[in-house]
Amino acid sequence: MSDELSTFSAAFLPAVEAEMRAVLRADGADAGLADPFYGMMHYHMGWADEALQPAGGNSGKRIRPILCLLACAAAGGDWRQAVPAAAAIEILHNFSLVHDDIEDDSPTRRGRRTLWTLWGQPQAINTGDGMFALAHLALGRLAERGVPPATVVRALRHFDETSVALTRGQHADMTFETRPAVAVAEYVAMITGKTAVLVALCAELGALVAGADDARVSHFAAFGLNLGLAFQVQDDILGIWGDEALTGKSAATDITTRKKTLPVLYALERSAALRELYDAPAEDDRTFVRRAVALLDEAGARAYAVERAADYSDEALAHLAAARPVEPGAAALRQLTDMLLRRDF
Ligand code: IPE
Ligand code: IPE
Ligand code: MG
Ligand code: MG
Repeated sequence: MSDELSTFSAAFLPAVEAEMRAVLRADGADAGLADPFYGMMHYHMGWADEALQPAGGNSGKRIRPILCLLACAAAGGDWRQAVPAAAAIEILHNFSLVHDDIEDDSPTRRGRRTLWTLWGQPQAINTGDGMFALAHLALGRLAERGVPPATVVRALRHFDETSVALTRGQHADMTFETRPAVAVAEYVAMITGKTAVLVALCAELGALVAGADDARVSHFAAFGLNLGLAFQVQDDILGIWGDEALTGKSAATDITTRKKTLPVLYALERSAALRELYDAPAEDDRTFVRRAVALLDEAGARAYAVERAADYSDEALAHLAAARPVEPGAAALRQLTDMLLRRDF
């Protein structure tokens, strides 16, 4: 990690972790086995093992809270005031992953078994529901850090609007699985919902808590939105060509569930053989994945997606510059943008 980004992250992450642990009751009488309702959340967050004993598992990249606090600093604010917003967004993100793994039939996340494979789908749905509500309670804690009530109300409204857009994006993502053709514009609308709006919210709330004026808040939000689009296209690439040991996720499920990711859309338009394969009755998963990936490679789908991700990343940087960010937070945001585009994890 580059200098400014690693310095900020080292300060941010313990503060965010402590805030989330307080909201999700990870340190008191309800920790782990004492209350398995919260214990299942602690497992998902990487704080407990399968037996609900305290443990240090993979907690994910935590890029959303880092982005939120960096945006606050780069908008001239005190990042400590934005910690409840960063924690709330990361809890919301984790709620969405718990449900997403059920929706996508995914057995592995962050190199660990998914919640639903351990406790069953009904309990995993309920855990996600609890986390969704706790994310809202987490955001309300902004008031305890001296953030003005009008700003807290505005943040809560944007948080709820984002939650609606996210679940609407998930709806589209699932609908597309059974559709033979999806237009690129429909795909962009879908990933805007399922991924980019939440990344936009990170930057937006950071700037809002900093007290930035509306024009700057909008540029921070547009920066986050384009960063989120680049991030999802990169996730699509890793979902096909990524190394499972690094991503911690199965590399085959996007193909076997016939997700209309950007590389797949591109190749479906150009390869009759891929269209035939996707139309054919299910064969065994391994053969299907091998054939599909070979046809995607042949169509140049990977290079196309790499280019699109770079375009969104450039657009993000243009909005960041227009937001007139202050150093050293600005440098860290540029480093984060660069790091996300190159990531293989
Ligand atoms: C995964 O997000 C879901 C997407 C929006 C692609 P991340 O890749 O940020 O997941 P973690 O939190 O680091 O595991
Ligand atoms: C990402 O979903 C968006 C949400 C979870 C809301 P994906 O299904 O594309 O992401 P991964 O690959 O499972 O992390
Ligand atoms: Mg999904
Ligand atoms: Mg998924």
